[in-house]
Amino acid sequence: MISKESVLKGLKTKVVGKKLFVFESIDSTNACAKTLAETGTPEGTIVVSDYQSAGRGRLGRSWISEPGTNLLFSVVLRPILKKESAAILTFYSAVFIARALERISGHGIECKWPNDLLLNGKKCCGILLENSFLQDRFDFSIIGIGINVNQTSFPDDLGNRATSLLKELGHTFDRTRLLQELLREADVLLPSIKKGDVPTIMDEWNSRCLMFGKPVTITHGDNCVSGTALRLDAEGGLVINTPSGPSTFYAGDVTIVQ
Ligand code: BTN
Repeated sequence: MISKESVLKGLKTKVVGKKLFVFESIDSTNACAKTLAETGTPEGTIVVSDYQSAGRGRLGRSWISEPGTNLLFSVVLRPILKKESAAILTFYSAVFIARALERISGHGIECKWPNDLLLNGKKCCGILLENSFLQDRFDFSIIGIGINVNQTSFPDDLGNRATSLLKELGHTFDRTRLLQELLREADVLLPSIKKGDVPTIMDEWNSRCLMFGKPVTITHGDNCVSGTALRLDAEGGLVINTPSGPSTFYAGDVTIVQ
């Protein structure tokens, strides 16, 4: 099991991880982090659990993870941002996670819109942001992160779209060491949000995204649209050139048509 003492040992972050809650089992680290945020926990608070009985995924899905094999954690942020700028937090999260995974694994990590990370073209990490606003500004944001680290098999319905670091790279990874690296990278990149340095984050995200210029299909509910992925717009929406002209999407699942 991940222990609080081992995560904090040698961790020299300024904000992220200054307050840390570690559980063996919980319903959802995002749900717990939200309750803590509502009762005033400081920015940078982390909630980690070895297992979630009701892990939440994007678009109302659940996130299922074998006990004690992966990383399941949430970060509380209190960004001084307007509601319209919420998308930058998604890209911030993807970039700091990609940096940490690359440093620990030595392999390139791809960013997939809107907030997945891929290793060898398969999903190894999902991110779920849950935001709370006070009028037009942020009160807090919960960044929920699920990384498949040492899990060896995945449910059949995921086909071979899901993977883990172990499955792709052939050896197990120390989850505590990986978590420390993630917290360090989150801490290093945090000032970019505070300074409004959006280009640093977006340039790095774009350079890790391989779908631009390629034929894609986007599905959201019953809606399915095909076209060529062009770029992201200022709000983080995906612009696709469809047969009836450019169209921007703010949610959905994208696949590159091979
Ligand atoms: C996705 O659907 O891809 C996003 C998955 C996010 C899962 C993580 S696991 C830790 C945190 N707590 C949750 O309940 N969900 C997120």
